[in-house]
Amino acid sequence: MTAQLDSFYPTRVDFGTLDEIHRAAAAALPAEVMDFVEGGAGKEITLRDNRAAFDRWRILPAPMSGVGSPSTRTEILGMPLQTPILTAPFGGDALFHPDGHPAVARAAQARGALSVVPEAGSYSYQRVRAAAPGAARIAQVHPFGHVGAVADRVARLGYEALCVTLDCPVGGFRTRNMANRFDPDQRHFAGNLTGENGAPGVAEIFGQLLKRGGMVWDWATLATAATGFGLPWIAKGVLTPAAAEQAVAIGASGLVVSNHGGRQVDPAPASLDMLPGIRAAVGPDVPILLDSGIRTGSDVFLALALGADAVIIGRAAIYGLAAAGEAGVDRVLELLTEELRTLMILAGTPGIAEIDSSRIVRASS
Ligand SMILES: Cc1cc2nc3c(=O)[nH]c(=O)nc-3n(C[C@H](O)[C@H](O)[C@H](O)COP(=O)(O)O)c2cc1C
Repeated sequence: MTAQLDSFYPTRVDFGTLDEIHRAAAAALPAEVMDFVEGGAGKEITLRDNRAAFDRWRILPAPMSGVGSPSTRTEILGMPLQTPILTAPFGGDALFHPDGHPAVARAAQARGALSVVPEAGSYSYQRVRAAAPGAARIAQVHPFGHVGAVADRVARLGYEALCVTLDCPVGGFRTRNMANRFDPDQRHFAGNLTGENGAPGVAEIFGQLLKRGGMVWDWATLATAATGFGLPWIAKGVLTPAAAEQAVAIGASGLVVSNHGGRQVDPAPASLDMLPGIRAAVGPDVPILLDSGIRTGSDVFLALALGADAVIIGRAAIYGLAAAGEAGVDRVLELLTEELRTLMILAGTPGIAEIDSSRIVRASS
């Protein structure tokens, strides 16, 4: 990294809180890039509600529970996790820090977390996997065009599962980007369009995404394509029991309950509010991840109590990356995990499996 870049990208890692990391990210990034990260669609009602939904629940203290060293270990699709946290697939990562997703995945690997590696990232699936094969095990794909070819390619690279994003047939109506006339260099989203991972048709996919036309795949098209996936796949962007049942019916091995961090439909319901109904619809055995609004260890606890097996962090990881690269993401994972562990002692839950709805109540107001 050049001296000039060093001054733009601080490496300070003694951050005490996520708020400090958030402020450092805001200081490091140009205002319109920070808006691209922070913003939601439309009136940003969903963006706000994703956070407010967590504030409507309370965790029950369990005095004298005898729990002193709880374990945050768990697993998703047979992949072990030291902490029930995955980093989100987010495109344009080099806009936030030149080290991008390879740094995110290295941080996740060091903490025993997993990274979902995006199709629209600045670095190829191959580069991210090479940087941290212990964390870069799930590849996110868009279900259009040459998704079968992409699935084959990531399987050859050693990825063990696909994360198919269902809720982005067109980019949401992102008000802040429009106000800012935000027009990022598309190369930051093109790590998989060129070089060793380039595949015919992928450029066309992103061309379509940028238009307002929308993609025209439906459940039947996806069902047919999915029969050719050589890997298990999880459906990301499920927000209703009906969509969850449909995804499982066509072969999804897991779900990501998500409204894309409030970036697509606005106003859509908060992910957390929809989670219990989705868990009830698909039963106890389908792995469920939750994202949209996770910022603290207590958020992780509440998501697990309401039916998730693990959570995905988008903006929280981006704040860490922008603030201090790999070390910043590492600190975010550490803070979330340590708060979760602390709450597990205080709430008397020796392991992740014991975090259930008996541990929480609705707030009275
Ligand atoms: C800047 C940014 C870019 C994103 N790009 C993608 C993407 O390319 N594919 C995808 O499935 N989700 C994408 N997402 C959504 C995240 O994967 C995730 O669902 C969301 O950030 C979770 O909400 P949170 O940011 O409140 O944690 C993006 C999110 C952000 C903030």
